Amino acid sequence: MKNKILKITQLGQPVLRQPSKPVPLPLSRVHDRLIDDMIRAMKKAKGVGIAAPQVGIGLQLFIVAPEPSVRYPKAPTMPPVAMINPRLVKHSTKIVTDWEGCLSIPGLRARVPRYHSLEIEFTDRKGRRLVGKLSGFVARIFQHEFDHIHGNVYLDRVRDTRTFMTEAEFRKRRS
Ligand code: NI
Repeated sequence: MKNKILKITQLGQPVLRQPSKPVPLPLSRVHDRLIDDMIRAMKKAKGVGIAAPQVGIGLQLFIVAPEPSVRYPKAPTMPPVAMINPRLVKHSTKIVTDWEGCLSIPGLRARVPRYHSLEIEFTDRKGRRLVGKLSGFVARIFQHEFDHIHGNVYLDRVRDTRTFMTEAEFRKRRS
C-alpha cells in the first residue's frame, strides 16, 4: 500500500521488550523505504524521534528529529537523521534530569535522568559510518531511542516515580 502510515506499537507488545538485530548493510530498498515510513509516522504523531521497534520492526535503526512542538516546546530544530546500527562510544559523567514521553506509552510523562553529552557512532542512510558528539536535548533523544533498540523504555530509567504526570496536565503546566 502506498503512503500508508505505519501504526505505532504500544507498550505490552513484545517487540518493544526485545533487543533488535543489526540492519544488514548496504541498506536495502525495503529498509530505505522503512526510514521514510518511520519519519512519516513520527511526524504524524508529533514525535521528536522514533525507533524501528516502535513500528514493529526489530532492527537497530532510529530517527532523531528534534523540533519544537506541543509535546516538546523548547526543542531545537534539526532535520530528521536516520541512525543505523548506532553505538554509544562514550558518555559524560554529568547527568541531567528532564521530561520525557514516548509515542508507545501515550498520555504519560515523567522526569528521566540522562547523560548530558555523548560520543556516538552510526551509519547514515548513504552508508557512511559517522562519529559525532551530542549534548542536551539531542543527546536525550539519542539515549531514549537507543534504549528502544535494546528492549528498554524510559519508564525503566525513571528514578522518582512521583514525577509521573498525564500528558494533559503536562501541557497545562508547561506551555
Ligand atoms: Ni519512545
